[in-house]
Amino acid sequence: MKTLADLLAEGVSGRRVLVRADLNVPLDGETITDDGRVRASLPTIQQLTGAGARVVVTAHLGRPKGEPDPKFSLKPVAKRLGELLGKDVKLAADVTGESAKATVGSLADGDVALLENIRFDARETSKDEAERGALADELAQFADAFVSDGFGVVHRKQASVFDVAKRLPHYAGGLVLAEVEVLHKLTASGGAGNQATGTERPYVVVLGGAKVSDKLGVIANLLTKVDRLLIGGGMAYTFLKAQGHEVGQSLLQEDQLDQVRGFLEDAEKRGVELLLPVDVLAATEFGPDAPHEVVAATEIPADRQGLDIGPKTRELFASKLADAATVFWNGPMGVFEFEAFAGGTRAVAQALVDSKAFSVVGGGDSAAAVRQLGLPEDGFSHISTGGGASLEFLEGKQLPGVQVLED
Ligand code: 3PG
Repeated sequence: MKTLADLLAEGVSGRRVLVRADLNVPLDGETITDDGRVRASLPTIQQLTGAGARVVVTAHLGRPKGEPDPKFSLKPVAKRLGELLGKDVKLAADVTGESAKATVGSLADGDVALLENIRFDARETSKDEAERGALADELAQFADAFVSDGFGVVHRKQASVFDVAKRLPHYAGGLVLAEVEVLHKLTASGGAGNQATGTERPYVVVLGGAKVSDKLGVIANLLTKVDRLLIGGGMAYTFLKAQGHEVGQSLLQEDQLDQVRGFLEDAEKRGVELLLPVDVLAATEFGPDAPHEVVAATEIPADRQGLDIGPKTRELFASKLADAATVFWNGPMGVFEFEAFAGGTRAVAQALVDSKAFSVVGGGDSAAAVRQLGLPEDGFSHISTGGGASLEFLEGKQLPGVQVLED
């Protein structure tokens, strides 16, 4: 796989380089509430501009329906990117149309342009290879080389991630390389208790988030690798129900119960310690000020819903993280967006900060939670920019956007 370093060694001064970045940041109106992904994209762009390249960045924001939609414009992102780079970032008004052509054409050495949200063009996410290819052809005309640096999107077989790499000399950017290297450390292992290779033990994984159905593949695969699996967040209630407990009005995926029973059995067979909440904050409704009380996880009243793990669970999870050598954490323990239900997520994050383990936070909500809760980012070994991408990596799947760079 060729890398950014190879491209820089070839020389980029005066050359146009297309960079696929993941600038998919959370927005409140036009305000970016977490600019982590923009900041993570800076080093690759800066190395290129520093070497005199004319940089054309392409990225998506949210999931627009294949046509321009002002709600999903990259305008706030262009502004933030410009502030962080300390230079003006020209935003094209379209993806590959007249504005994009003119914007790219006007670049001087060391300049940066951002194309408008690539998902404003329906061909980006098309299942039809020829349609994606037509968009990739248009993108390829903007550059002499392609740098893939949007780690958060490498699990998507999309025109600006996959097809364009087949049309231009392609290189892995610094962020993609760093992420892949870290995640390799979490997958280089045999079954529980296997000291022979790779991942240092105890290897503990903490999973949360709303839906167990989003994590089936990764749980199945992790059960063959980890020593302990701690489960919190909305998905824990399907596990509790599978054990025969009532969960009241809590999130529940009835259709996943059999699957989850299978996980419980598999964990036992393999000697993996699978830990569920022992107490929860049970609220009368879903809301920031919902009245709530601590109840045993096995005694959630019929009219209540669990919105966070309780104090005993926080202690239990922290104790199971204290002696870990390797930790991967993905998904909040509760509704951390509401202060009243952020304590469980904060406690797990703090336990990681306090531990000496090699600790990786898997992107999306958990990375945002770390920053929103004001925890020190350097308290973790790595905060991934990829949510779905890091989970698919841990699932053992081939990521199309990485695979294509190997050809
Ligand atoms: C993410 O937010 O995980 C990435 O930007 C990918 O976005 P997507 O799930 O909409 O493809």
